[in-house]
Amino acid sequence: MNILYVGAGFVGSCSAAVAADSGHQVFLFDIDKEKIKKLSSNDRDTIESCIFEEGLGDLLIRNRDRISFTNDYQKVISFLETCDVVFLCLPTPEIGETGESDLTYYFSATETLGVWLAKRQEGKQSKYIVIVNKSTVPITMIDTTEEIMKKHGVQNYGVVSNPEFLVEGKAIAGSIRPDRVVVGAWKEKDFSIMRNLYQRFHDSSTVKYIEANPKEAAAGKLLANFVLFNKLAVCFDVVGRVAEQFTDIQFENLRRILITDPRIGSWGLYDSLYAGGSCFIKDARSLSHQLQTAGQNASLVNETYSANKRQLEMFIGRAEKEAALDWKGIKVALFGLSFKQDTNDIRNSPSIDIVNYILERQVGNIVAYDPVATESFKHVFPGEKKLQFVSNEESALKGVDVAIIATDWPQFRSLGDSIIQSKKKILLMDGRRMTQHMYKPLSEAGISIIAVGSPFIKGK
Ligand SMILES: NC(=O)c1ccc[n+]([C@@H]2O[C@H](COP(=O)([O-])OP(=O)(O)OC[C@H]3O[C@@H](n4cnc5c(N)ncnc54)[C@H](O)[C@@H]3O)[C@@H](O)[C@H]2O)c1
Repeated sequence: MNILYVGAGFVGSCSAAVAADSGHQVFLFDIDKEKIKKLSSNDRDTIESCIFEEGLGDLLIRNRDRISFTNDYQKVISFLETCDVVFLCLPTPEIGETGESDLTYYFSATETLGVWLAKRQEGKQSKYIVIVNKSTVPITMIDTTEEIMKKHGVQNYGVVSNPEFLVEGKAIAGSIRPDRVVVGAWKEKDFSIMRNLYQRFHDSSTVKYIEANPKEAAAGKLLANFVLFNKLAVCFDVVGRVAEQFTDIQFENLRRILITDPRIGSWGLYDSLYAGGSCFIKDARSLSHQLQTAGQNASLVNETYSANKRQLEMFIGRAEKEAALDWKGIKVALFGLSFKQDTNDIRNSPSIDIVNYILERQVGNIVAYDPVATESFKHVFPGEKKLQFVSNEESALKGVDVAIIATDWPQFRSLGDSIIQSKKKILLMDGRRMTQHMYKPLSEAGISIIAVGSPFIKGK
């Protein structure tokens, strides 16, 4: 099949790479010229400097005969002549802190698409085409997509909702072997085209292929993200709080007790300073906004959002409260800039808030290290002289007063050893419990520790 992806971000690029790998002819359109240049470079490092997803570079290079990238409108217009399916993979961020989805990218792309589609086959529009909402959108968005197409006189088309459930950092593996594919359509014809497109998954015994209507599909995506987000918030704000408040309780032991119950499960039961990223927060806010706009109660959704926000504020505030720390003039090492391991995505990364917080308190300087997210992070604080970036953990630790672990990169598990070797009695703030196996020797070596899920550990 011939497939157009509008938006070559995490979702568009990963989905397109897997579609090409399934044998389809794929066209990726994005307005970001730099991104198109890097993604079409045929060089793995260049691709990964743009979107760091394990396997994406290899898949794009391996399938290069079936993938074209462009920011040229004319090329898209001519591809639409033979196109079977268009996936809209556009950003849907929150407007300020209102909860409402910012649909301007979406409208801009679909309005233009409507104009192009109406001109197909010299205006005859003889070829049937399916327009798919792949972005996470409000539940009634499918009606809006339909209205925009009608407004532009588009004919011979179907609208489908096919939300993306990929997990950043594991997007390619997850897209090649998804746990589920959800297709929401109104017409059998559209289901049939999507089954054809996803034949690889439809025929698989391990993938749950779920057909629903478009509103159920869109709502299912928002609700799935909320349930996961809520689970994280329960872990931070209830389990973690218990472990921080009562002595002689180790978070890992509570975790073990809880996860043996299959009804509870293990996912999300890791303590952390924050659940960041581009999805959970904005999708919970959007869900709340949609419920409240419709006159419904959204207290639990709102409280989940607040618990996450509170977690980060409490974590960073503990330095002053429990260790009587004055940030003024001191040197801080910050480990991890991406919002979680295995990605260079820094959207809603806790490190952004941490840097802002300690800069406000006139920190002396911050030395930051991340294996892949440094370049993205630099753009958030252009020209900030107090923020320096280094290329390894040892350089970051030199002469610091405080070390903060903000991302769960597996390599940070060995930071405890490096801190002991540095022989300086610093304050360690472990926002991921990465060094929990070392808390005892660290405190014996004079290191004070503030860790999520532990009471304050004073260095001896
Ligand atoms: N990132 C994830 O893990 C994930 C997972 C599931 C669902 N989603 C949802 O998928 C959607 C896209 O997310 P993403 O992470 O890929 O976003 P992204 O910001 O990485 O990518 C979006 C891309 O769209 C491009 N774009 C914006 N306006 C355009 C236009 N008019 N025409 C063409 N391209 C345009 C941008 O330049 C950008 O490259 C969002 O709704 C998000 O909530 C994301």
